[in-house]
Amino acid sequence: MNYIGSKYSIIDFLEVSIDKTLKLCKENRKPSEMVFADLFAGTGVVSGSFKKQGYSIIANDIQYYSYVITKHMIENNGNLDEERCNQLIDELNNLDGVEGFIYKNYSYGGTEGQEFRRMYFSDYNAKKCDAIRKTIEKWFKDGKINENEYFFLLGSLINSIDKCANTASVYGAFLKQLKKSASKQMELVPLPIMHGKVDCKVYNEDISKLIKNVSGDILYLDPPYNARQYCSNYHLLETIARYDNPVIKGKTGLRDYSEQKSVFCMKDKVAEAFAELIKNAKFKYIFLSYNNEGLMSFETIEKIMKKYGKYKVYMQQHRRFKADNARDCKADSTIEYLHCLIKE
Ligand SMILES: C[S@@+](CC[C@H](N)C(=O)[O-])C[C@H]1O[C@@H](n2cnc3c(N)ncnc32)[C@H](O)[C@@H]1O
Repeated sequence: MNYIGSKYSIIDFLEVSIDKTLKLCKENRKPSEMVFADLFAGTGVVSGSFKKQGYSIIANDIQYYSYVITKHMIENNGNLDEERCNQLIDELNNLDGVEGFIYKNYSYGGTEGQEFRRMYFSDYNAKKCDAIRKTIEKWFKDGKINENEYFFLLGSLINSIDKCANTASVYGAFLKQLKKSASKQMELVPLPIMHGKVDCKVYNEDISKLIKNVSGDILYLDPPYNARQYCSNYHLLETIARYDNPVIKGKTGLRDYSEQKSVFCMKDKVAEAFAELIKNAKFKYIFLSYNNEGLMSFETIEKIMKKYGKYKVYMQQHRRFKADNARDCKADSTIEYLHCLIKE
């Protein structure tokens, strides 16, 4: 998924830096003996790559769509019958579209005659999305599929529909004409199934609360860097994941996101929240991804982390995530830091 702040393109940098730190600290336990926590998990790409190395994973995100995808990637460990999964995907791909919540509120045809006409998806894809989403829910309620299959199918839908979104990148606005990728008929593509350890756990909580209830060895923190809230930028994925018929408002059909607003996107609150997080973390190795344009300054982060033990920083040049053309005037790259604390 093309996600703001995704660490997909710098995963090697993270792995190498974390590995280097463990070696410097003469850490001699194997990954299979350690717990790695990724508590701002997003697309789950970091959790997934450390799961592959054999760590027990704890993952978390405040957004439900992220929870769904990550729950499949991290908790589904050899407990899915791949042949049956492919059959279920085929069945869903063969459904006829229906006029459900997504079609009626987020497609051009479905919003005809309404105050706001929207074109987040083609009429065809919106109906197809509704048909698949409703069927997954029905199958689960009727006991045709189990919970593992439910999250596998739902995660696959979120990932597939996102590829057909008629947006520049995020869901803060839609395009006036259907772009090429949005005009194509959506195909439900199965998410890969990753085999790994069985004792992995995924949460859907605010990290500031969760941090008091989890512990482990390595804590990886990848908070939002700026004021752009994920709950509004990805509101449509949240609604497809929840499928809870929310009251929606305005031109973009935003759901109420007051419960999901992150303090890590608030200039006047972020440093205090981050300091609390570090104070409450029951982990020996703590890593924070942040860049040189983030809400907290380098010095603020350094000061907060240094208070609790040995501190070090790794850095790398990173190509900017371009969400819209208005930002083209900014530099093409940023400096990506990996702040590291060995908590004493
Ligand atoms: C920079 S992104 C993480 C990207 C992720 N590492 C990846 O590679 O896909 C930040 C994530 O933090 C989540 N988030 C923001 N505030 C949060 C909070 N208070 N508790 C938990 N998750 C939060 C957002 O929903 C978003 O998915």
